[in-house]
Amino acid sequence: MEIVTARLRLDALRDEDAEALFAYRSDPAVSRFQGWKPASIEDAAGFIAAQRGIAVDTPDTWWQRAIRLRDSGELIGDLGLHFIDGRAVEFGISLAPAHQRRGYAREALEVMLDFVFGGLRKQRVMAWVEPRNFMCMRLLEGVGMHRRDAKAGDVMFELPAKEWLAPTDD
Ligand SMILES: CC(C)(COP(=O)(O)OP(=O)(O)OC[C@H]1O[C@@H](n2cnc3c(N)ncnc32)[C@H](O)[C@@H]1OP(=O)(O)O)[C@@H](O)C(=O)NCCC(=O)NCCS
Repeated sequence: MEIVTARLRLDALRDEDAEALFAYRSDPAVSRFQGWKPASIEDAAGFIAAQRGIAVDTPDTWWQRAIRLRDSGELIGDLGLHFIDGRAVEFGISLAPAHQRRGYAREALEVMLDFVFGGLRKQRVMAWVEPRNFMCMRLLEGVGMHRRDAKAGDVMFELPAKEWLAPTDD
């Protein structure tokens, strides 16, 4: 499945993405607040291979999408959806440092929220963020997510479907 936006293309990770994925995911600026950091290109290749055969909306799985520049196809990041239980979805997003601060993360996240709420009809989207990860918090607040209680030291952000599908003016 492929989703195209004004500047991006979201699709499956491919074997040939391993080197680029390793490069940005092992960069301390990207891995600092995240649970997974590839130790090698082979490790990144294993991450990609493990995605093979995982269908969208399979409960208890992470479904990982590549974020590419629409025109060149260059891999600039990834966005993962964790289908928790039929109703709720958790996500995580990473961008290569060279491609941050251009609005790409917001563009990718917005189209993914359209897909999750409008296409898959999920009720709730969540993200857990390390409390010092201000860039991520700014992104989540920017799309209207609400900061909730803490879980295992992380801050929980949440967005109910009704707010995304029928936003208020304020
Ligand atoms: C979280 C993360 C993806 C956010 O990336 P980001 O580059 O800050 O977010 P965006 O791509 O939406 O860019 C937003 C910035 O680009 C600016 N921008 C520049 N051109 C823009 C354009 N054409 N359209 C929109 N925004 C634009 C915005 O003004 C904004 O800047 P500001 O924060 O100073 O206001 C990134 O920090 C990251 O990969 N971090 C490491 C991984 C991580 O910790 N992930 C969190 C796990 S959930």
